[in-house]
Amino acid sequence: MTRYKINNLEEYFKDYKKSVREPKKFWDKIASENFTWYQEWEKVVDFNMAEADIKWFVNAKVNMTKNCIDRHLAKKGDKTAIIFEPNDPSEEALHISYTELHERVCKMANVLREQGVQKGDRVCIYLPMIPELAITTLACARIGAVHSVVFAGFSASAVAARINDSDCKMIITSDGGYRGNKTIDLKGIIDEALADTPCVTAVLVVKRTNSAVNMQEGRDQWLQPLLDAASDNNTAEIMDAEDPLFILYTSGSTGKPKGMVHTTAGYMVYAAYTFKNVFSYEDNDIFWCTADIGWITGHSYILYGPLLNGATTVIFEGVPSYPDYSRFWEVIVKHKVTQFYTAPTAIRALAKESLDYVQKYQLDTLKVIGSVGEPINEEAWHWYNDHVGNKRCPIVDTWWQTETGGILISPLPFVTPTKPTYATLPLPGIQPVLMDEKRNEIEGNQVVGSLCIKFPWPGIARTIWGDHERYKETYFSAFPGKYFTGDGALRDEVGYYRITGRVDDVVIVSGHNLGTAPIEDAINEHPAVAESAIVGFPHDIKGNALYGFVILKETGEYRDRENLSKEINQQISNQIGPIAKLDKIQFVSGLPKTRSGKIMRRILRKIAEGDYSNFGDTSTLLNPEIVEEIKNGKV
Ligand code: WT7
Repeated sequence: MTRYKINNLEEYFKDYKKSVREPKKFWDKIASENFTWYQEWEKVVDFNMAEADIKWFVNAKVNMTKNCIDRHLAKKGDKTAIIFEPNDPSEEALHISYTELHERVCKMANVLREQGVQKGDRVCIYLPMIPELAITTLACARIGAVHSVVFAGFSASAVAARINDSDCKMIITSDGGYRGNKTIDLKGIIDEALADTPCVTAVLVVKRTNSAVNMQEGRDQWLQPLLDAASDNNTAEIMDAEDPLFILYTSGSTGKPKGMVHTTAGYMVYAAYTFKNVFSYEDNDIFWCTADIGWITGHSYILYGPLLNGATTVIFEGVPSYPDYSRFWEVIVKHKVTQFYTAPTAIRALAKESLDYVQKYQLDTLKVIGSVGEPINEEAWHWYNDHVGNKRCPIVDTWWQTETGGILISPLPFVTPTKPTYATLPLPGIQPVLMDEKRNEIEGNQVVGSLCIKFPWPGIARTIWGDHERYKETYFSAFPGKYFTGDGALRDEVGYYRITGRVDDVVIVSGHNLGTAPIEDAINEHPAVAESAIVGFPHDIKGNALYGFVILKETGEYRDRENLSKEINQQISNQIGPIAKLDKIQFVSGLPKTRSGKIMRRILRKIAEGDYSNFGDTSTLLNPEIVEEIKNGKV
């Protein structure tokens, strides 16, 4: 028997085995019993891993918002769907019921249609964490427009690149946003981006900060008057299972950001199923995920997963340090939060502050606490367990990626015994394997290797927008027939997985996935820079920070190094965003390169970490003498 909710370890093993032996039957049952469809599928799954061609629920017809909202109205119309907790704690929190959410999404959907947005069009959403972010995203899903939410911390040129890559015809933004004691001029950033985005013909602006903004006649419109004039009667678009639901950009180890495309039915089924099980969600729970909706964590576990289950989800506009470091705990008490899901970088930052901040609060409504985004170190795990979960709430260390759509490896609370720093066991439907350098599967336990998944699951991204070749190349070529995650992992004696980190040129800084290549590109555009290389090094709070090795052009040699460093960071901030700034910059006369011209990053990583014990084999280096020089000049 397959059940929607797994209740104990025996049921987990039964369902897991079934999902491997009979994946079609397994997902057929989950999908047909827990969602509403206009028409069911002809085939559960159809795939060719070599071509990276994957389809789930073939030819089924469905609408995401029908499942997130409409079907709950009869029984749960008055239930709170969204609790909005503003940045400023003295501003009143909002409770948006399912009925009200339905009304607001329908109006917004009508506005989009009236503005000429049609099924299949791309809409860029660049908003702070306010209810309109959820409502506009859902409105796109309702009319079949493909949303591309861009985190409102990205710079103008980063937004412009994302808008152009997917040819968005509309941008939805706000006059500004609040973050702690700062006000951010979002419309100003968008105005700058719009100088380079010829595809955009309409801009809708939400009022949040009442800041003075520039409104360009014929292009920019305030959203509210359009909503006021719109009808709340809207018929949802009938979507094919494989119609794209959204694009979400993630950085890669090379070149431009990858627009990961998630389609409708598979993503829906997977987000809902994983939400229910990983957070052990029950009716009347209050779920709070602290991520931003601009990341996949927010898409799947602030918006879609909770709403699909008819849950109450918290949208928090602020930051953990404002007005002080007790904000998270205060919000948990205020809204009686039962599941709390955050990132190791936030946990480490809070653990550094006085314990009084957390001990003042009785966090006894909490049942489950979660972690996501990067490996959680042992110290942070224990602090979280001792002071937030009070050794009473299971910690779900959830491993997944933008590309996977939902959580793949995680304990199930009250089901899987947890183990600090381990994401533990795969969810039903997920078949992880560890691979060695010769591309062989490593059998048995107590082994390490590159983490791959050998069978598709409904939530996997289907392609990279406009570049299927790159999708194939990035994820399906290193280990033929398998999806390669880019992560390394260890499997312990009982089969639990521990994710050890990226094995490619991606560095995770404060939970943000940063490719080194685009940052190097940004640095190299500085007129005084000839070449650069970026590596990560361990950082107490951020997990990793960035260390840049920079070679100057002759003209740069005469310039003040401190000013140059500032300019380089400014350049990065302008092109990518402040999250990608370097913590350390070292000016060098050369970089360790192999005879084929590849930078030996492994050596730079060791130097950045301050570990000079063993640089490994340096015999293939063209310029071995540079290693000593760089080491001596370490900052
Ligand atoms: C990368 C994906 C989807 C979650 C948000 C980040 C790392 C994520 C864990 C974890 C160890 C983790 C991996 C992964 N990661 N969760 N629980 N333990 N590492 O999504 O930006 O696409 O990043 O984050 O390295 O590949 P993302």
